[in-house]
Amino acid sequence: MTLAFPPGFLWGAATAAYQVEGAAQEDGRTPSIWDTFCRTPGRVLGGDTGDIAADHYHRYREDVRLMSGLRLGAYRFSVSWPRVQPTGRGPAVQRGLDFYRALVDELLTAGIQPVLTLYHWDLPQELESRFRGGSAAGGGWPERETAERFAEYAAIVAGALGDRVDFWTTLNEPWCSAFLGYASGVHAPGRTEPPAALRAAHHLNLAHGLGAQALRAALPARARIAISLNPAVVRPLTGSPGDLDAQRRIDALANRVFTGPLLRGAYPEDLIEDTRSITDWDFVHDGDLAVIKQPLDALGINYYTPSLVSAPAGDEPAVRQDSHGTGAHSPFPGAEQVAFHQPAGERTEMGWTVDPTGLHDLLMRYTREAPGVPLYITENGAAYDDKPDADGRVHDPERIDYLRSHLAAAHRALADGADLRGYFLWSLMDNFEWAYGYSKRFGAVYVDYPSQARIPKSSARWYARVAETGELPE
Ligand code: NOJ
Repeated sequence: MTLAFPPGFLWGAATAAYQVEGAAQEDGRTPSIWDTFCRTPGRVLGGDTGDIAADHYHRYREDVRLMSGLRLGAYRFSVSWPRVQPTGRGPAVQRGLDFYRALVDELLTAGIQPVLTLYHWDLPQELESRFRGGSAAGGGWPERETAERFAEYAAIVAGALGDRVDFWTTLNEPWCSAFLGYASGVHAPGRTEPPAALRAAHHLNLAHGLGAQALRAALPARARIAISLNPAVVRPLTGSPGDLDAQRRIDALANRVFTGPLLRGAYPEDLIEDTRSITDWDFVHDGDLAVIKQPLDALGINYYTPSLVSAPAGDEPAVRQDSHGTGAHSPFPGAEQVAFHQPAGERTEMGWTVDPTGLHDLLMRYTREAPGVPLYITENGAAYDDKPDADGRVHDPERIDYLRSHLAAAHRALADGADLRGYFLWSLMDNFEWAYGYSKRFGAVYVDYPSQARIPKSSARWYARVAETGELPE
């Protein structure tokens, strides 16, 4: 049976600045924490960097033509903070802003709605380094000042693009910035300091609140302000009290640490209890929670795979796995002993189990927890080992299956009452997959990195039809 999506449902694709732009040293851009991380031996597979990436900075016109070919109604991209405000403070670099103005104008001319993310992980290195002052503690998100700097940056971008961008998101997946960046260290800046990760989470929440206030003040009333989270679907291995407790702990550290303050204006009591030996949460100042709980015009949900957890299994070491890799250090402060298991089923090239029921669960959960807030799937997709065949075509039937099954789950959520307004495929094209470098391909469009040629995969043609008709074929 063909599944029809509601009229006006937004069909999009997403990318992020550091993953596609390249031009890392051009037009006044300075290093971000990812430029530094990539240059630290052993951090990124193959020593890959975002220096050139998919060269989108120079090829954005061609890329917007690709988007038209995919019949996209919207394009979700991020602005590189060190491109527009190189030291993370002070005046903006006009050439950096000009690039985004030109990109947005190209999109608008093509009838594609720009959806702008202010922060997709590329913190100006200067903000990470500036507090070092001889101490090893470092700066960055564990410092309150970073949240204040973010609000200033948000105001700059809103001032430059507010006349032409109506859909804004503050942060992308703050969980990754806080816990992969400062606890497991598999993401930049690569620190493994559990208390700092909790401080970072709070300051990211605060950055969202202050940033949303700055956007509200600078943007026309029609603008929509949102945040994109990657809520975990945490399932217990069994119904035993130990496994249910493991589920509760990870849910607190992966989800409620953000949705508590964002949606309810409070950190969960159990989270504060679970982490009491690590921090007394004195970094939460009077008034912060009111700032964080800004009205949301939309909630972005990124979903790839569920997590399966249990109480620690006897003497066996806990498998420390998260959706972005396995590291020697747990990304979950205070829940280091929780064991992670591989859910049964097919896996993508990332090793992530394909399970569309997780997407349905998430959409229904946030329908309940964020009543009245329209939902968008701001990322969903899969990496496969795509290669051009002898005729130079790229066939990726597994990706079509992945997208089809997840869109069917989204459609089920709509039928069950979720106020879901749009879907953004991750990703428009192959790009720099963080610690995995260029080894993982998530694109609907294949990128031949040596020539920078773009080849739409069969999934791109399939998705274009879905976007054009608003229907999911059988
Ligand atoms: C989430 C992130 O937002 C994006 O940058 C990343 O490439 C995808 N997940 C796939 O891992």
